[in-house]
Amino acid sequence: MVIDRVKTGIPGLDEILDGGIPRNASVVLAGGPGCGKTILAQQFIYNGAAQLREPGIFITAQTDIQNIVWDMQNFKWNFKALQDKNLVRIERVQFDTKADVSMQVEEQLTLIGNMVKEIGAKRLVIDSVTAMGMWIDDRGTLRNTIFQFLSEVKKLGCTTLLTAETSGDKNEFGSFNVEQYVADGIIALYFVPPNRGIFVRKMRGTNHSKKVHPLEITEDGIVVKNKDEILWQSLSTR
Ligand SMILES: Nc1ncnc2c1ncn2[C@@H]1O[C@H](COP(=O)(O)OP(=O)(O)O)[C@@H](O)[C@H]1O
Ligand SMILES: [Mg+2]
Repeated sequence: MVIDRVKTGIPGLDEILDGGIPRNASVVLAGGPGCGKTILAQQFIYNGAAQLREPGIFITAQTDIQNIVWDMQNFKWNFKALQDKNLVRIERVQFDTKADVSMQVEEQLTLIGNMVKEIGAKRLVIDSVTAMGMWIDDRGTLRNTIFQFLSEVKKLGCTTLLTAETSGDKNEFGSFNVEQYVADGIIALYFVPPNRGIFVRKMRGTNHSKKVHPLEITEDGIVVKNKDEILWQSLSTR
């Protein structure tokens, strides 16, 4: 059976995914700080809009919007032109800890859903699920809220990347231990100085590489060395 795939447009990444991410999949992008999650997610939105005219939405829950601006200037990706053409939306979500967070999550879902309809978005990024959960203290509520949120996001009909901060441990694939139950795919990024790596842990409905591949962050963004391999044993654990 031929399945419909979404090309990330990231050199080497579509190759290790057997052609791309299955359309409408929700994929967790997990990794420690500075391993390239935000850059990869931005590149996914940028390439979709710039190369394939597929509208995309980038939701940031980062407290510092400046980081996003830096990344974009850094790689000379002209998001502004794409925003003007309604091919890209970049939105920041923020929560007020004094109010009911579950209700705010509901509101955010409605807003995201409306944005998806408005521009006919095919790609969506939530960066990061970890930051969204930061506002919720109680662990039970946290897991439940994140689970509900991710389940609802899946229904929006977009191919979605959900970034998740981990400690950087090679066997950690999410922040709250709930992401994996909702996700169709899990991609882990590693940064064991001086080496960066990428590993497709799971991708429902498709074959994929089972190796850890070197990843480089260049002045044009992320490049995956799909022909090369990093040995699993060489990724340090703590
Ligand atoms: N132009 C560049 N060339 C090489 N590496 C870069 C460049 N820009 C950023 N980086 C690297 O990318 C890292 C940030 O990646 P980012 O996607 O924000 O990480 P994460 O979201 O996983 O925390 C920086 O810490 C730096 O090491
Ligand atoms: Mg980030």
